[in-house]
Formats: sequence, structure tokens, C-alpha cells
Amino acid sequence: MARAKRATPSAGRVPGHPRRGKRWYGHGLPYLKLGPLPGHLIVIEGTDGVGRSTQIELLRSWLEVEGYAVSNTGWARSPLLSDTINEAMAGHELNVLTFSLLYAADFADRLEHQIIPALRAGFVVIADRYMYTVFARNTVMGADPAWTRQVFGVAFVPDLVLYLDVDVEHLVPRVLAGKGMDYWESGMHLALGSDIFDSFERYQRRLLDEYDRLADEFGFLRVDARRGIDDIQGDLRTHIAEYLARARSAPPAAQGPGVPGLPASESG
Ligand SMILES: Nc1ncnc2c1ncn2[C@@H]1O[C@H](COP(=O)(O)OP(=O)(O)OP(=O)(O)O)[C@@H](O)[C@H]1O
Ligand SMILES: [Mg+2]
Repeated sequence: MARAKRATPSAGRVPGHPRRGKRWYGHGLPYLKLGPLPGHLIVIEGTDGVGRSTQIELLRSWLEVEGYAVSNTGWARSPLLSDTINEAMAGHELNVLTFSLLYAADFADRLEHQIIPALRAGFVVIADRYMYTVFARNTVMGADPAWTRQVFGVAFVPDLVLYLDVDVEHLVPRVLAGKGMDYWESGMHLALGSDIFDSFERYQRRLLDEYDRLADEFGFLRVDARRGIDDIQGDLRTHIAEYLARARSAPPAAQGPGVPGLPASESG
């Protein structure tokens, strides 16, 4: 499987290599004066039910024992938008446009009120998914990728993206043993299959293909998530420890407003 590739840096740059001045992915939040941001933004990407929450909880306790202050963030957790998103998703009425805009508003709110303040205070921010999940979902839902990337031009380029790389064959039993298949994660909104199980498999295959492409494009570090929890955690810790060691030896560059005017495709 394409997703069986091991954690090898790709796309011509070393992922996580400390470009210690934070950069906007696109236009950013133009009204925001950043100042120094000594913290670290580490993203755990991966499809629905792959085990992100399990791994992030373990990472948090490990990092705290190592002496880091940790802040967790994830989709639909902004106080401003989370109830609205949950209500909208319960109703099954969202389309790709309204879905993306709600998520983008949630993201912008968390960025301004949680992520940036935590980075300013020197925290390690662990993000449970990031803009890449929306890129993958939107492409599968038929949106123009250039439009999606424009909308998420408010984002920062993270310091490190760790991708929990799985295949459908390993994902299905994990999801069935956990909380089960839900409407959105099974792609029922796209009417892909005759039943939820069939739809889940088809939708997740498409999503995983997109993640795979994004992993190459953005240089995610791949972690083989078909394995047990401890093996995955071991790899994640190794990658994070290496990144933090490099970051310690490379003091933060002067913080600027990012790369204003640069198209998202060139600044990611
Ligand atoms: N490596 C693993 N092997 C087997 N089961 C696992 C593994 N990692 C997590 N699980 C189990 O899979 C289920 C989903 O895990 P978890 O909630 O961490 O995933 P998630 O990616 O956060 O899911 P969601 O997309 O719903 O947020 C849980 O029942 C968990 O115990
Ligand atoms: Mg989770």
C-alpha cells in the first residue's frame, strides 16, 4: 500500500527542520501583531478513528514529564463555533461550502485565542488535525483545492506534522471496536455505497489517497499506524524529541508577518 511507506522525509525538505520564525501559510490574520513565538506547533494528522486522541494523550503526559507546558487543540473545539458545528453536523445539512467555512471560522478563532497565545508563552501546542484534514476532505467532496487553500491562508505553517499512516484494512476493525461508524466519517453525505459499511470503506480509501498525496506535498513525517499503540507512540516520541533538540540548537529567528502576498501553494 502506498500508505505503508515508513517515516521518511520527502518533498525536498526535512520536515520539522526548525525554520524558527513562524510563517503564515497564506495571507494570515493581517491585523495581528505576532511578536516572538518561542513555542512549538506540532500537528498529529490522520484519518477518522486512526488513534490520534489515544496518541495525543500519551504525548501530553510524556512532554509534561519532560518539562514542557502543553496545550492541546483540535477541530470544532473553539468556544465560539463548537456548538454550532455539532448542531449543524447532527442535522446532516452541511455542504462542502458551509462545512469548510464553519471549520475555517473555528480554526481562525482557535488560532487567535488559543494557539498563538500558547506559542507566545512558549508552550508545545499539539494540534489534533490541522488544515490538511480539510484539504483532504474537501477534495474528496469535490471542492476546488485552490479555493480551500485560499480559505485556510489564515493558518500558520506548523513546525512538525506527524501523519498516522494507516490502510482501510487496519482501520475498519479499529473503528468497529471503538465508537463505530458515523454518518460523516462514513461519507454517507456523498452516497458512496449501499450501506454505511460499504460507504465507510470507499470514502476512507479516497480520503487516505488524498492524505497520502498531501503527505508527499507537505513533507509530513509518516508513522506506520497499523501497529500497536506503544510502537506508534515510540516513533512519535522519537520524531518529537529530535525536532525539539534541533529547535533548542536553533534560536528563534525574528518573527515577521509571514510571507504576505505569496500564494498558498508557494508558502506551504
Ligand atoms: N494502534 C491501535 N491499535 C488498535 N486500536 C487502537 C490503536 N489506537 C487506538 N485504538 C483504538 O481505536 C479507537 C479509536 O481511537 P482514538 O479515539 O484514539 O482515535 P481518533 O483518531 O482520535 O478517533 P476520532 O477520529 O474519532 O477522533 C479506540 O477504541 C482506541 O482504543
Ligand atoms: Mg479523537
